[in-house]
Amino acid sequence: MKNEESEGPKQKRPAVKIRQMEIDDIAKVFHLGETLFKAGEAPNTYRTWDEYEVIELFYGDVEFCSVAVLKKKIIGFALGSTITKSHSAWKYGHLIWLGVDPAHQQMGVAEKLFKRFKEVMLKENVRMLVVDTEAENIPALKLFRKLGFRNPQQHIYLTMNLESERQLLKKRENGGPAEERNNRNHRHG
Ligand SMILES: CC(C)(COP(=O)(O)OP(=O)(O)OC[C@H]1O[C@@H](n2cnc3c(N)ncnc32)[C@H](O)[C@@H]1OP(=O)(O)O)[C@@H](O)C(=O)NCCC(=O)NCCS
Repeated sequence: MKNEESEGPKQKRPAVKIRQMEIDDIAKVFHLGETLFKAGEAPNTYRTWDEYEVIELFYGDVEFCSVAVLKKKIIGFALGSTITKSHSAWKYGHLIWLGVDPAHQQMGVAEKLFKRFKEVMLKENVRMLVVDTEAENIPALKLFRKLGFRNPQQHIYLTMNLESERQLLKKRENGGPAEERNNRNHRHG
């Protein structure tokens, strides 16, 4: 689906077009995202912004990927996917990455990107939309609230550092002391 939408009568806002992402946009979207989702500051913890993420979502379903264009320059993007759970008739739409070039933020670009995302999701028979962001991402939280998202659920992420166990495993695999000890025990046992 190719859906272009230009700015309405509001004179103050720039003439931003929202359209489906195209193959030539991949690198531009990736680089714009790099400036927004810096390592360690990613707005959602369980996904990382890298070229594979963009490519995967683009090839997953291009219809769920849009860009905002101003004077032929990509100034924003929305990338998402749909989720169908087994034993449930409900289809969910997940808006995974939403980003706007800082020079063009607070001009309604994200709202426009979301409008198209929602239209596409409605056509896909999606019954519920899901977004997530870090608790301290106030612009995103305010935006999502304004767009109509409610009922925030708190998730706590816990981490476990496996480095020492990983090192131990490596030593064993390379025939280190742990391996030798095991072999010795085996010989005498
Ligand atoms: C969050 C983000 C996408 C908003 O994009 P945007 O184009 O500036 O948003 P809009 O201009 O459409 O703003 C719509 C509403 O969002 C809220 N909002 C947006 N930016 C805000 C800010 N800096 N502070 C407070 N509220 C903000 C406001 O409610 C605003 O409505 P208003 O103008 O009537 O007050 C943008 O700040 C961004 O790219 N942030 C970095 C990436 C990110 O965190 N993405 C979200 C999670 S993936």
